[in-house]
Amino acid sequence: MDKAKILVTRLIPEAPLRRLEEVFEVSLHRSSSPMPRAELLNAVRDADALLCMLTEAVDAELIDAAPRLQVISNFAVGYNNIDVNYATQKGIAVCNTPGVLTETTADLAWALLMACARRIVESDSYVRQGRFSHWDPLLLLGHDVWGKTLGLVGLGRIGRAVAKRAAGFDMRILYFDPAADPAQIPATYHAAELPTLCRESDFISLHAPLTPQTRHLIGAPELALMKPGAFLINTARGPIVDEAALIKALQEKRLAGAGLDVYEAEPLVPPELLAMDNVVLLPHIGSASITTRDKMGLLAAENAIAIIEGRVPPARVN
Ligand code: DGY
Repeated sequence: MDKAKILVTRLIPEAPLRRLEEVFEVSLHRSSSPMPRAELLNAVRDADALLCMLTEAVDAELIDAAPRLQVISNFAVGYNNIDVNYATQKGIAVCNTPGVLTETTADLAWALLMACARRIVESDSYVRQGRFSHWDPLLLLGHDVWGKTLGLVGLGRIGRAVAKRAAGFDMRILYFDPAADPAQIPATYHAAELPTLCRESDFISLHAPLTPQTRHLIGAPELALMKPGAFLINTARGPIVDEAALIKALQEKRLAGAGLDVYEAEPLVPPELLAMDNVVLLPHIGSASITTRDKMGLLAAENAIAIIEGRVPPARVN
């Protein structure tokens, strides 16, 4: 019997590719850049399965271009790039990669938080520029992390992993998450409405999915409530923050800085942010560890294989 066909839209780690090849005829976009849209629409025509990245808009146009498609397996936990309702209407399974990237992403949120607070990137540049001539009591003074208040917007898997790490820093934890079940949350974490969290936190870290409800959840009114010494950390999705409002707030020194792994119109990073010393900017690498990317690939592969073999996949969202 002929093997089912899967389109893999980017080079992914070796192990998941090998696993896919056991089951599928694999059509691989052998590149570290996204497939041009026209190429993607053409390549998906005879695919039974699609293993795609968060950079691909899997919308009605793409779904209609793929009459044989049974499964869309996203190489990501977030799936805001997929029109899930339309896929469901067409009887196509949509799968993602939850769980395997939780701790790695939480590590990166902390790396950003610490880098912002202690001016790590600025300090590194200072040394590389040959400017370190003597110890100085006023050199590159940052902000303490220990004992401060951490406000988590979203207390799902990643939010909780970030909170767990805060225990070692003796931090007070506030969280805003209308979907959280208080019975599942440690009594030492305090639920707060978003304005209270904005007013009281020294560090705000975002861990919500991007949905119509969370788009621009952090906008001018929320930024106006933040303390002048506070930092905003975003490893979730760019459009959760109104980027123009954030730039204005940073320019007006209404907060101390920001650590961003994601942007509103990725891969575009506004030049105003590039020009600021008090922001740390990363290229969406929250889950980018060797081990985690292997696990994400293997989970995405198992999701696609399970659907094609008529089994329940490990992580289906519709
Ligand atoms: C995701 O999985 O949604 C991240 O943004 C990439 O790891």
